[in-house]
Amino acid sequence: MKRVLTYGTYDLLHYGHIRLLKRAKELGDYLIVAVSSDEFNAGKGKKAYHNYETRKEMLEAVRYVDLVIPESTWDQKIQDVKDYHVDVVVMGGDWEGDPRFECLRDYCDVVYLDRTPGVSTSQIKEELNLGNDDIDDLFTH
Ligand code: CTP
Repeated sequence: MKRVLTYGTYDLLHYGHIRLLKRAKELGDYLIVAVSSDEFNAGKGKKAYHNYETRKEMLEAVRYVDLVIPESTWDQKIQDVKDYHVDVVVMGGDWEGDPRFECLRDYCDVVYLDRTPGVSTSQIKEELNLGNDDIDDLFTH
């Protein structure tokens, strides 16, 4: 059984997330998603639209996801890899080369997958701040 672990906020679940999760699952047999807790986000000066419990519930409904755990600190990753017997940590290409993931190479494989172009949670938030009439003029995602 090959175990895959990935980290993220996964707010306003979108097709970029789904495609990342699908490709992550294809790298193994069991996919664990560590989702940032509300407290962890607050520490980074971020606030998700959906709270942790809702983001967790939505991810648990995704067929590629086997387990959702909280990400509460920056430095829990090595312990997660050990606790969950992780073979490969997967992240989107925006994290490529980041020492916070590179240091995991002593414990497991680390793989970066290309992001899906043209969508992100911040972009959705920004575009939905526009009025409905403005949205008619936008590209349909
Ligand atoms: N991701 C992706 N393609 C996208 C958006 C996200 O592959 N278009 C991946 C990220 O690289 C990460 C995971 O999905 O591995 C969770 O990303 P997250 O940061 O929660 O989502 P974003 O949409 O990038 O959120 P934000 O705009 O707030 O950065």
